[in-house]
Amino acid sequence: MYLFFLPNVDPIPLPAPVWLFKVLHIVTLMLHFVAVQLILGGLTIGTLWNFFGKEDSPMREASNSIVKKLPTVMTYVINFGVPPLLFAQVLYGQALYTSSVVIGAYWIAVIFLLIAGYYLLYRAADRANENKSWWWLGIISLILLAYVARIYSTNMTLMLRPEEWLSLYQQSSGAGTIMPKGDPTTLPRFLFMTVGSLGLAGISTTLLGLFFNHTEKVKDYMVRVGAALATVFLVLQMLFGYWVYAAQPEIVKEGLMNSPVGFYGMIIWGIFSVAALLTSVLTFVSRSAAKITASVAGLSGILMTAGAVLARDAIRDLSLLAKNFDVWNRNVVANWSVVSIFLVLFVAALILIAFLLIAVNRSMKEVKQNA
Ligand code: HEM
Repeated sequence: MYLFFLPNVDPIPLPAPVWLFKVLHIVTLMLHFVAVQLILGGLTIGTLWNFFGKEDSPMREASNSIVKKLPTVMTYVINFGVPPLLFAQVLYGQALYTSSVVIGAYWIAVIFLLIAGYYLLYRAADRANENKSWWWLGIISLILLAYVARIYSTNMTLMLRPEEWLSLYQQSSGAGTIMPKGDPTTLPRFLFMTVGSLGLAGISTTLLGLFFNHTEKVKDYMVRVGAALATVFLVLQMLFGYWVYAAQPEIVKEGLMNSPVGFYGMIIWGIFSVAALLTSVLTFVSRSAAKITASVAGLSGILMTAGAVLARDAIRDLSLLAKNFDVWNRNVVANWSVVSIFLVLFVAALILIAFLLIAVNRSMKEVKQNA
């Protein structure tokens, strides 16, 4: 029997229905998770290749090509991280605000870790532009960013365990300096997102090799090794995914099978993980249709991430429901005019981001051709 108290729900009603916040949360979190996998996996691959690659070797050139893209990826990690954080706070504020305060020192530290990690990425990309080695900057940046991931995994699982809050708070005398231990779900979630990230990052490396200007040797290296890494790490990510499921309490496991979001989320994740895996194997084996197989692998990787986000959402709702927190039980007074303006701006922003990406790519190609 647990003893815990949940803070009272905010008396101000929600300005839009719960389902709308959930849809927006899931869409934006999926984009954040794609970007997180690219930054963590891309930085790992790039740093290792920079360390082991001799000067002017395809490995070294491939590592430079990757790191030059990472500062841009980082902007997406952050900008696609803010919206789901806001939606999560609206829906789960009672739990999320409390757990954030309980590990407050670490939670605040995220800002400084991010600034330092981001700065080092720029420094590394600058050195790559000058054809100088940058692997030590990559290692430090990777450690800082992986620690951000650790803090996120810790907070997102601590918010599901209200029975731990009071004692953790008292142990650190309210300073938020104690990292919670003993939750069997935190490590598999962390490994799923960090080690597993090399799967999607491997696919992206093949795409980078295939669709951007590289010499034949560099292109061949990026496609072959990227596809091989994707194959190995997609399998590992599937194993971590199963571990995430197996580590849940019985009540959550049972609930997942009966909840449409959880069940279909797991099915979507499984089907598209296998699709990404098979198309990565095909990319590795045959170069003749590599552009098609790698593109299908990339699309499958995005849909696989969407499935994981859905299943994760159900895990949270079921875990909290077991502690008497029902996310659907909220007062709603919808303000449709504001919601409509928000949706129009949101879609316009997504279109603008896609447009910006295309424009940046085009101008980078032109700069290269003129150089
Ligand atoms: C390099 C920087 C970052 C990394 C490596 C990172 C990594 C992660 C990871 C691993 C998770 C999943 C945790 C879990 O459930 O186990 C996560 C979740 C999340 N991250 Fe990030 N993150 C980064 C930056 C940010 C930033 C800057 C924001 C927003 C300001 C953000 C917002 C979120 C949100 C909202 C969630 C999930 C919330 C929910 O459960 O609904 N992240 N992040």
